[in-house]
Amino acid sequence: MSAISQRKITVVGAGFVGMTAAQRCAQQNLCAEVVLIDILEGRPQGIALDLNQAAAVDGYTTRVTGTNDPADTYDSDIFIVTAGLPRKPGMSRSDLLEVNGKVMSAVAEYIRNGSPDAFVIVITNPLDTMVHLMRAKLGFPGRRVMGMAGVLDSARFSWFIAEATGSNVKDVDAMVLGAHGDSMVPMEKYCTVNGVELGALVPKDKIDAMVERTRKGGGEIVSLLKTGSAFYAPASAGVAMAASILNDERRLLPCACLLNGEYGFEGVYTGVPAILGKNGVEQIVELPMPTEARIQMQKTVGEVQLDIDALRDLGLL
Ligand code: LAC
Repeated sequence: MSAISQRKITVVGAGFVGMTAAQRCAQQNLCAEVVLIDILEGRPQGIALDLNQAAAVDGYTTRVTGTNDPADTYDSDIFIVTAGLPRKPGMSRSDLLEVNGKVMSAVAEYIRNGSPDAFVIVITNPLDTMVHLMRAKLGFPGRRVMGMAGVLDSARFSWFIAEATGSNVKDVDAMVLGAHGDSMVPMEKYCTVNGVELGALVPKDKIDAMVERTRKGGGEIVSLLKTGSAFYAPASAGVAMAASILNDERRLLPCACLLNGEYGFEGVYTGVPAILGKNGVEQIVELPMPTEARIQMQKTVGEVQLDIDALRDLGLL
């Protein structure tokens, strides 16, 4: 991986998540260059110019390049892939399978050709299936290709816990595993406020309501916005994962990883706690799981497998 003065991050897709991710990378001085690529002509160039002009005010040194040319992404250390369509109100993430599957295939081709040593963080929905497809097309080792969702889902749960307990969200630790969809698995057993178990602070019916709201967290924002979906928290989550890899922070973050027997699953992506460092997924941490959570993990992985079968039927895998 390059030294910080040469690091290059490519953000694929200049929609709201992509442009926000590019801004976060720049504001954190995470790399020397952010390349923002999109198929729309003018949009990534315009956003890049705007972000470069903001540097004079914000004081970052990261340079942003907007482009439509895949060759400009070559030799990137890491890709944050946000390209594809977001949901409309009433749509499930799986409704995006075909259209976004084609986008993943096209993006994988230039990543494989121009940046064969890169790490890839996928944000595009349906997340677990898109990251599975991306890895299959890239042929990279699983430790270099992962999906962002657990950090986002856990952040949503954290916010609800902070609100319910009246505490500072900085003191809240929440963990959500499984696929990024309504079958995700919020692990209330592993949720604490500065070490105090959630169950000691919030009555069970209120916890159940928060769990349900977390599962539907993305949909709630889609319905409120009417066009588009959430972007601040998804972008922050993706960049936190990139930072943990690039700076070898070794943070324990829930993210979609390729399982190789862990949690009893083989050859499928789903959200699990992982240590992210300079080699990508350094370790998948296997937590003791209550029986109920184990059953939910079976269900969530089953749904990912159905989407993978659908991709095969579409001839995309
Ligand atoms: C959400 C989208 C990014 O959960 O899946 O907001």
